[in-house]
Amino acid sequence: MSGDVEGEPSVVAGAPAGLVRIERNADRARIEVVLADAFGTREVGAFVDGLRAAGALVPGLVAEVDGRVVGAALLARGSLRAEPARPVGWLVVVAVERTLQRLGIGTALIERVLALEPDAPILAAGPRRLLERFGFVPLARVGLELPDPPIAGPWLAHVPRSPSPAGVVELPRPRAEATPVEGGAGAA
Ligand SMILES: CC(C)(COP(=O)(O)OP(=O)(O)OC[C@H]1O[C@@H](n2cnc3c(N)ncnc32)[C@H](O)[C@@H]1OP(=O)(O)O)[C@@H](O)C(=O)NCCC(=O)NCCS
Repeated sequence: MSGDVEGEPSVVAGAPAGLVRIERNADRARIEVVLADAFGTREVGAFVDGLRAAGALVPGLVAEVDGRVVGAALLARGSLRAEPARPVGWLVVVAVERTLQRLGIGTALIERVLALEPDAPILAAGPRRLLERFGFVPLARVGLELPDPPIAGPWLAHVPRSPSPAGVVELPRPRAEATPVEGGAGAA
């Protein structure tokens, strides 16, 4: 990963004291609260825990406002079947506390995720409308296949301009049996 965003100031529109930074272990409890609040269920947090237990998560991002974590973009690492295999990012979840949605925090998180992984394809199952604004397109359109999706789609991908990353993608699964997350990490 490149692009250390630790401590970069004021990237959250409408929230002057906001910043986006790499997640730390100490953020986990707050992230869980944010996920439960944003999705209205603990199932997504349990799914994320399962991926963490499987060693599939890589450090993602959190959004802080006034020193409090209010949003998160969580990332896992998959691979593109190729010789040699190429890493693929999976944006597992983007979530923002309900009372702070529609202020640009989700946009800031996704922008920074793309900056973290400029050379890898990034796959996600939502939020569709928001992802499309960043150039995410249906997998087939960029020659990617996900024959065994870990959660329901529709799946979208953001790909670097070159080299073309076409092929079959494999994504990790949670270790414990977790409740499937409908519409990906969200069907917004
Ligand atoms: C999706 C989510 C992360 C967006 O975060 P946010 O901080 O509100 O995003 P932004 O303020 O940057 O909004 C950008 C766009 O996202 C879309 N959007 C935001 N909230 C949305 C919602 N609740 N439902 C549908 N679309 C939404 C809108 O298109 C919005 O643009 P607009 O305000 O011009 O219409 C946030 O709404 C959320 O946590 N939702 C619940 C969890 C979820 O479904 N996550 C997505 C799947 S992982």
